[in-house]
Amino acid sequence: MRKTLPDTPSPKFQTWKALKNHQKKIASTSIIEHFKNESNRLNYSWLEWEDFIVDFSKNRIDRKGFDLLIELAKEAGLKGAIESQFSGAKINDTENRAVLHTALRRLDNSPVIVDELDIIPEIKAIQKKMSAFCNKVISGEWKGYSGKTITHIVNIGIGGSDLGPSMVVEALEHYKNHLDIRFVSNVEGDHHEEVLKGLNPETTIFVIVSKTFTTQETLSNANSIRAWFLNQAPETAIVQHFVAVSSNTEKTAAFGISLDNTFPMKDWVGGRFSLWSAVGLSICLAVGPEHFRALLKGAGKMDLHFQETPFEKNIPVVLALLSIWYNNFWNAESEALIPYTQYLRNLPAYLQQSVMESNGKSVGRDGRPVNYQTGSIIWGASGTNGQHAFFQLIHQGTKLIPSDFIGFKKSLKGNSDHQNKLLSNFIAQTEALMNGKTADQVKEELEANDIDTELQEKLTPFKVFEGNKPTNTILIDKLTPASLGSLIALYEHKIYVQGLIWNIYSYDQWGVELGKQLAAKILDEIEGKKSFSHDPSTSKLLSKI
Ligand code: F6P
Repeated sequence: MRKTLPDTPSPKFQTWKALKNHQKKIASTSIIEHFKNESNRLNYSWLEWEDFIVDFSKNRIDRKGFDLLIELAKEAGLKGAIESQFSGAKINDTENRAVLHTALRRLDNSPVIVDELDIIPEIKAIQKKMSAFCNKVISGEWKGYSGKTITHIVNIGIGGSDLGPSMVVEALEHYKNHLDIRFVSNVEGDHHEEVLKGLNPETTIFVIVSKTFTTQETLSNANSIRAWFLNQAPETAIVQHFVAVSSNTEKTAAFGISLDNTFPMKDWVGGRFSLWSAVGLSICLAVGPEHFRALLKGAGKMDLHFQETPFEKNIPVVLALLSIWYNNFWNAESEALIPYTQYLRNLPAYLQQSVMESNGKSVGRDGRPVNYQTGSIIWGASGTNGQHAFFQLIHQGTKLIPSDFIGFKKSLKGNSDHQNKLLSNFIAQTEALMNGKTADQVKEELEANDIDTELQEKLTPFKVFEGNKPTNTILIDKLTPASLGSLIALYEHKIYVQGLIWNIYSYDQWGVELGKQLAAKILDEIEGKKSFSHDPSTSKLLSKI
């Protein structure tokens, strides 16, 4: 197979071995001790870029370890790999595709060539078409079949055709216009019925988003919703109420959607990286083309930062390397992501798809099984909610869970009382996770509360916090379309850096196919059309349905 990226298994890197040794050497040095040993610690572990601050000083690593990580990125050929991605090389080798969601948010109009064609003019044309459509709907110029203006939008899609748009629409609620945007993703009939509740077909537009236009969930929902619509409206009304985002224009036409109402997607945009493309139509409808452009611009700036900044100051690179440090050298099983804003409550769920669908692979680029850990498990929830849910385990559990804390200096509505409380929690948690609380401190506190010595002895072990729990703090000025774009792009690039070093292909997703194939067969069985042999568990379960 033609190769566009190197294919060295991670343990073969010289620096990999050096990192293993170094981890052993510093395993018993706490983060606080690193601070004591390194008077300049904040000089190298504090990054400032645009309106972002990234403080990664609260990690179980010292300067030597950090330098080795940077060396690892160099040894793995990261520089060349970044160039390959941005220049349109077909780095998605198993699907023979370029990976160019970055071209959608390019800050200038310089050409990006795929199969000898500059793709920028087509990108601009699609963006223009999106803006024109959104402006018409938002302004009320676009009318439904009975002459009424549009009040509701339903996005029908799943995976990347749902998670990105829905997360961003929710995140940018503050910037939203009057349109009520809903999302239906699951094939569960109850889901689409709930979404349709109270909707008037005369004033609703349905955006069917599916790159392939073959996804069972999306097509089932689209067909059922179409039938619901046609129960109340004439066939000729489809044109005012159904639009599609897809790369499969044959299938969108067969569904009855005109070419004018079809917004193309290209095969160099992966589903989980597609919110920047026409898949972001619902975002553009929700916040308007200007904010949508700002979102793209924010991401474009992060792309430039990723391409041009030396690795030791490069935010996605540094965060990727730290994540590898814990995943491969400290055996951490997962990572938490805690945004201190309710607007970003679904960022962890969104990143679960992009991170885990991308790097959940066990075969290397050399075609052989890997013998080391890849794909990190991502989870989390908004702070402070998470503090009252899973933080107990991060503070006092047996597992090592490196965590990213994402916070914003300013609130959007200006309530300083609440914002101060939110930020005090944001800062306090990372300090508490690092410092912990010793038995002596616990006893002192109990003493001060007049607890007798016997009870003090009994309670102390339960109230001790081991501390030394690693965190990264990402502090951003304000949640805006631009800063959100930068933040998402940051995590996208982190994925690529990790996939490169783990020697896996981050941009395919063969692992989702088997379940889909089997579900199709089992559907035939449930519908009594065919029967197949199964294992005893599956057969018994099927007999109960
Ligand atoms: O879950 C697999 C997947 O292919 C995702 O990568 C993608 O985002 C999702 O299904 C939806 O695919 P489509 O946009 O083609 O309907």
